[in-house]
Amino acid sequence: MTPPAAAPREKEDPWKPIQHLLEPLPSYYHDAVLDEFVRSERYPESIAYTAADNSPQAYQKFLWNLYRLVGDLRGKRVLELGSGPGVVVEALRRLGGVEAVGVEADLRFVEFARAHEVPLIQGTLEVVPGELAGKPFDLTFSHWFLDALAKVEIQSDGTVRYERRLNHIEELQVLKTLAALTPPGAWSIHATRGRIPFKDEEFRQAGFEIIEVNEEHTFIVLRKTAPPADTLRVEPSTPAPAKTGPARALGGAG
Ligand SMILES: C[S@@+](CC[C@H](N)C(=O)[O-])C[C@H]1O[C@@H](n2cnc3c(N)ncnc32)[C@H](O)[C@@H]1O
Repeated sequence: MTPPAAAPREKEDPWKPIQHLLEPLPSYYHDAVLDEFVRSERYPESIAYTAADNSPQAYQKFLWNLYRLVGDLRGKRVLELGSGPGVVVEALRRLGGVEAVGVEADLRFVEFARAHEVPLIQGTLEVVPGELAGKPFDLTFSHWFLDALAKVEIQSDGTVRYERRLNHIEELQVLKTLAALTPPGAWSIHATRGRIPFKDEEFRQAGFEIIEVNEEHTFIVLRKTAPPADTLRVEPSTPAPAKTGPARALGGAG
């Protein structure tokens, strides 16, 4: 008698862990961000545009790409640079078990996020924020940030003044910060609307291998292979002043 054929094993859906993020984003937090910064007309300036800029589809596409490249992020430590109000950070934390944190210069976004239990640190990324020095991440990323780098002055009360766009020397400082925050072996993934302002050679000098880049140079996947060249070393800054209490401990994410 021939043995019965093994029942076909049900294939596990590889996207299951992020399924709910890929449905038309019913994001309470994204909605709250729009209510606060866009629909309220409380902020008659560029912050409203910054908050309104990104459509749920753009975030979904980015989350999909993170998952496609890095896989299940649960149990991983991830950092978003220039997070704005932290919509991606919040979405990642909602997966459960992802220790996600963002850095953002603008206190209005930082305070709003913290009030919603989304852990953001205030800092400009021309230097390594003191709170993050020496903390290794499995993944660093940015969404619509690298092409929007600004000279931001953080005043003593934590409020900010946007002065101008960074020049290329200053942009390279941000690349150094990114390199310092991305340990060897970690991924670094970046999406922009305009062209990413760094040449392949500049990424390599910062210790990154280029794994994937699109033709428009608006999406790049990097893997840190080496410490940055000596000339790219940066010293950590002292923590930026915060008007509200201290940033939530990074270990509290999940
Ligand atoms: C276009 S927004 C994108 C926000 C967010 N990543 C998103 O996709 O919703 C760019 C953000 O970068 C921040 N930013 C610009 N220059 C910065 C700098 N030098 N240091 C820290 N944040 C900066 C701005 O305050 C702004 O919130």
